[in-house]
Amino acid sequence: MLPIPLDALPTPALLVDVERLERNIAAMAGAFTAAGVALRPHVKTSKCWEVARRQLEAGAIGFTCSTAAEVAWLSGHGVADLLWAHIPIGPRKVAFVVDIIAGHGGGRSDSAVTAPRDSFAVAPRDSVTATSRDSVAVAARDPGPAARSLTVSRDSVAVAARDSGPAARSSTVSRDSVAVAARDPGPAARSLTVSLDSVEAARPLSEAASAAGVTVPFVLEVNTGHARLGVDPADAVATADGIAALPGLRLRGVLTHEGHIAALPDRPALEQAGKAAGGLLVEVAGALRAAGHDVSIVSVGSTPGATSTPFVPGVTEGRPGTYVYYDANQIRMGSCRPDQCAQTVLARVASVRRAGRPIIDAGVKAMSSDAIAVAGGVGLVVDRPGVTFVEANEEHGFLHDDGAVPLSVGDLVRLVPNHACGTTNMWSHVYAVRGDQAVERWEISARY
Ligand SMILES: Cc1ncc(COP(=O)(O)O)c(C=O)c1O
Repeated sequence: MLPIPLDALPTPALLVDVERLERNIAAMAGAFTAAGVALRPHVKTSKCWEVARRQLEAGAIGFTCSTAAEVAWLSGHGVADLLWAHIPIGPRKVAFVVDIIAGHGGGRSDSAVTAPRDSFAVAPRDSVTATSRDSVAVAARDPGPAARSLTVSRDSVAVAARDSGPAARSSTVSRDSVAVAARDPGPAARSLTVSLDSVEAARPLSEAASAAGVTVPFVLEVNTGHARLGVDPADAVATADGIAALPGLRLRGVLTHEGHIAALPDRPALEQAGKAAGGLLVEVAGALRAAGHDVSIVSVGSTPGATSTPFVPGVTEGRPGTYVYYDANQIRMGSCRPDQCAQTVLARVASVRRAGRPIIDAGVKAMSSDAIAVAGGVGLVVDRPGVTFVEANEEHGFLHDDGAVPLSVGDLVRLVPNHACGTTNMWSHVYAVRGDQAVERWEISARY
């Protein structure tokens, strides 16, 4: 059925403009290559293999992940070098890390990685998710007779309550099959590195790794201003000494997420703060080396910081994520122009009953509820001067139009989300768009 013109798509629909996507990927890869800095994009922005594959082809060394599901999914694709920028806390995450590392030769076995059967990666919250390419993923714990009568056709979200018979019943993937991973799992990932910032969090991982006979590589997370995770620089050597003394763990370097710079009021201040964060991390790396630690990774990462922080001498890699799509928040921060935004939500005007207040068929469940930090609003309305997206309920959006070019029932509008990563997580697939045609439909994976 594809390609089809955009006005034939069901709404709301998530779109990615392939030309813009590829330009964003090439530009970031080019800047990093020119500076001799490795690029390890955060995968949470797209959660889409068609995007990740393009990033790898452009030279990404691997990916940054935030969830176990992302790690399992990319391991299944055989991605060589994964950094889980997350502290693996609690018995399930600890076991997951050890299983993944044991699976790709971390000291115990050379067998291929398979996501642990009962891990988060396979069936979160006991749900059963249909993720076959030809169905829109329909979660149904126990489908029962009603669910069995639902048919979800490949190219529309029209859910027909007819009796679909055996086809619909067979589209449900059972809990024990690897629903997350990938169409073609390929060879095992060759390395997984985790992030740690305390001896307390490291101890259970050390115990589990030792019991399994594997070594877990880690980076020490350092707080350079964001004050989320990370040791303060003054505590870095003592913490690294304490963790490195535990068996089964191996320090590879240091990591920071300079997320605090996003709040700065103008671009020069933001870039200055980005450089300061990079400089601080490099200093910490030097102090660790002086204390006898091996520090080969000095990892920074954010999209607003991607023009400054990675290029501080001594930084070895950067982890921007949002740059593949950009979004309204990145426009506000000066990270991109509106014409670089690759992700949009396509919606239709459903009602113009109240003057100046058109209602569209996309709300927070299409856009995510992330606010734009300064200006408010739910997203940017593309190419409709005088029209803004002021608020949203779940499946309805409230536009404001100044009346200059009034909208009519049925009009299509395209919306740039405030936050691309949050928006991705609302969807099971995205339409790849060239010009005014949807040319392919790409699966979004690991959404939890
Ligand atoms: C640890 C870490 N690294 C990298 C990134 C990527 O930053 P951005 O979304 O600004 O591209 C994030 C984003 O939250 C992050 O938490």
